[in-house]
Amino acid sequence: MKTDDKRSAFPEDFRRRDLQQRRELVLARLGPDPDERSCSLPDGSPSELADVMVESAIGVVPLPLGVACGFRIDGLRVDIPMAVEEPSVVAAASFAGRLVAKGGGFSTRAMEPVMSAQVYLSGVAEAGYSALQAAGREVAATLAPMLAGLDRRGGGFRGYRCARIAGPALVRAEIDVDVRDAMGANILNSAAEALRPLLETLSGGRALMCILTNAALERRAAASFSLTLAELGRACPPGWEGPECADRIVLASQLAAADPLRAVTHNKGIMNGIASLALATMNDYRAIEAAAHAWAARDGSYRGLGSYRVEGDCLCGELELPLPFATVGGALSLHPSAHLALRMLGNPDATGLARIAAALGLAQNLAALLALVTTGIQSGHMRLHAARLAYMAGARGAAVRRVAGIMAARGSLSPSDAEAILAELAEEEPVP
Ligand code: MEV
Repeated sequence: MKTDDKRSAFPEDFRRRDLQQRRELVLARLGPDPDERSCSLPDGSPSELADVMVESAIGVVPLPLGVACGFRIDGLRVDIPMAVEEPSVVAAASFAGRLVAKGGGFSTRAMEPVMSAQVYLSGVAEAGYSALQAAGREVAATLAPMLAGLDRRGGGFRGYRCARIAGPALVRAEIDVDVRDAMGANILNSAAEALRPLLETLSGGRALMCILTNAALERRAAASFSLTLAELGRACPPGWEGPECADRIVLASQLAAADPLRAVTHNKGIMNGIASLALATMNDYRAIEAAAHAWAARDGSYRGLGSYRVEGDCLCGELELPLPFATVGGALSLHPSAHLALRMLGNPDATGLARIAAALGLAQNLAALLALVTTGIQSGHMRLHAARLAYMAGARGAAVRRVAGIMAARGSLSPSDAEAILAELAEEEPVP
């Protein structure tokens, strides 16, 4: 392993030190410069909040928070907060969101927020398996006290079933719970663990593990749009016509359905939007990613999500996937950044947020495909990339945009160009 000698080997009891002590250790070991310190190790509430959220906290990582403005979703104007480090993701979402809004916007729908958990049991003989299969009422009764609060809010127990898993010779006993506005991991994991003694007794087997599935198969949301080819044509780069672009977008979605190598990137683009919204609202983006990719591989081949078709004089797009978004619980109830993002969205419930996520994912995909099948994606990245180079060369404030503008106009995109342009500007307007 290649590392430099500034590598931080912190004391064994690092996690037992208090926040202040841990931060002092980091300062002493790494001697962060002022930018590193103010970004990653800010004083005050961000770090204190981090300390109650994870073990061994020292600070925070401030991802850019942008807003994809101008979406129309189910007739409502929506501006979508997105936390993401990649340039052009927010711009691309905004572009496609505004474009689709011109054609009436996105229509969305979502299933009820049902999550499932499994208790895996080994050593279950035939009689034990029959007892498990007949255990639905006892399972519901065992869970009733735990799920009473959810029941009152319209959620609660929804189903129970079991199956044999051939390879490892295990039995899977499975429950479904409508978790309302929660992500559901705590509820489902607690419920599965609460069932362990009952299921072991009934089956005569031994539980290997009790855990929810992140597949979230029954918690899907979908978005669709229809856009006239004339409107699409007005958004196409110069030299491109709407009908040709639409046909190429349809072909690109067929390609993503047929070639797993393309599907991975196609889906990554969709998740650019969805994961950014998940991060902005402090949702569990790993769970959402896992569910999306598992859904993409549900028939045994990994395929691109979403589909497009030309119908009459319109390009129609559709996207459906599991979207286990929450609006309460976990970091969501605790973190001011989550509160702000949800307020920007008008405080949707969990299914409402999932519907917004579906529209955002589809917008992100449309923007990517439109760029890919016409001029390519690199040219759209130029200005933001130039701004990064300008910042790294030392430009700050208004100088970042000026340097980036000149770089984009000259078509020069290297760190040395950024430095040279910054020096030219400094000569023109020397700092007093
Ligand atoms: C880049 O982050 C995402 C894209 O590669 C998605 C795609 O290829 O569809 C542009």
